[in-house]
Amino acid sequence: MARLVIVSNRVPPPRAGRGGASAGGLAVALQSFVAPGTLWFGWSGRVVDKPSGKPRVVEGQGVSYATIDLGSDDYDRFYVGFANSSLWPLLHFRLGLMRYRREDFEGYLAVNAGFADVLLKMLRPDDMVWVHDYHLIPLAAAMRERGFTGRIGFFLHIPFVPASVLEALPPARDLLLALCAHDVVGFQTQTHLSDFLDCARRFSGFAVEGQEVVTNGRRVRAIADPIGIDAQGFARVAARAAGTAYIQRVRESLLGRSLAISAERLDYSKGLPNRFEGFARLLARFPQHHRKISLLQIAARSREDVAEYQALRRELDRLAGDINGRFSQFDWMPLRYMTQTVARTKLAGLFRIAHIGLVTPLRDGMNLVAKEFVAAQDPADPGVLILSQFAGAAEELTHAVMVNPYDPDAIAEAMSTALEMSLEERQERHAVLRRAVFDVTAARYCNVFVDALKGH
Ligand code: G6P
Repeated sequence: MARLVIVSNRVPPPRAGRGGASAGGLAVALQSFVAPGTLWFGWSGRVVDKPSGKPRVVEGQGVSYATIDLGSDDYDRFYVGFANSSLWPLLHFRLGLMRYRREDFEGYLAVNAGFADVLLKMLRPDDMVWVHDYHLIPLAAAMRERGFTGRIGFFLHIPFVPASVLEALPPARDLLLALCAHDVVGFQTQTHLSDFLDCARRFSGFAVEGQEVVTNGRRVRAIADPIGIDAQGFARVAARAAGTAYIQRVRESLLGRSLAISAERLDYSKGLPNRFEGFARLLARFPQHHRKISLLQIAARSREDVAEYQALRRELDRLAGDINGRFSQFDWMPLRYMTQTVARTKLAGLFRIAHIGLVTPLRDGMNLVAKEFVAAQDPADPGVLILSQFAGAAEELTHAVMVNPYDPDAIAEAMSTALEMSLEERQERHAVLRRAVFDVTAARYCNVFVDALKGH
């Protein structure tokens, strides 16, 4: 049987296991799927003076995790530069934040070529390679140039954009051609998929037949395969966590007030300033909720070497201070704002006891927090999910209270609606959301993708 090889920029630590404390969405989704014998390859997360170019291999539960270090120029051009200052803003529709420099793109190509050199030495001819996310778009093309003819699939975890946005990126065509070096290309939603097919038609010069791009000698199959979570596992963790001393302390600190929760990386795609403004408007326009609600915002610091993230952090510090300064009373502070990372088990418990899950990104590929919040609820007395219409999850979670995150008044009104919603309506909405989250799981996501790759 063909061996599965996973490639992603971040590689989970071997013992993070299912839902381990430091595992991110991708790691959690894949880790329950990877069988013994799988190879997982990527960046070690370390930046060193002289990278050896030799992978460090660690075994964990039969899986080999192979990682390499980056030099500081590569880190600046590949990770800080092209991946996170050009592609990330572009693919989140933020052209105003996009910074492009040719040397960054060259660094991006060079790191991908280096990854291809190292990976190919570890591959067997019949291996099936599954590459993840925007850091590694040109990897397959580099592998093909070096003679690899096996199956390679690619999954984009973040949004794809319409042609009128993509064309702003000077090497847009190179990226499209690189995507066409795969056998299967996967997207989170139907919208991203059709935008990709449209871009392929416009920029690549290849014919598009249905969901396939026909290149010289290869057919690239494009699919929509929304990522999910281990809903049962997360629901169990949440129910158990709700009884822990940590959650008990949180409950006591609330003094019977309703908890609204938001949790994500501190990233401009997440719409944090708009959300803070929305919360401020709730307090200004609906004084009946004063002293009755606390918003806990967890915004884990991220990509701190990228200037836009530093600026956003300063802005949020200011906004948080402003909201609490304006509305706090001596024994009530409406906003609790934390920039540390919170362990998944604790988060699960916080979701479980929250009355509102506030997930309002300006754009998001999927957003697994929305799914986790739903899975964590007690079906007998569920909290309300307020969801941005621009999160990929909105295609599936249609029974959330939907908002346009650019409109702070809409966020305020949705929060007020959620605080006043009857038990019956909460249960009805939650039952539908729960079915969606329990149907489209992490296991299903992996199976759909790998079946498509096998069948190619
Ligand atoms: C998003 C991306 C991932 C990335 C993660 C954390 O979820 O889709 O590819 O790993 O953010 O960002 P970081 O820059 O720390 O890897």
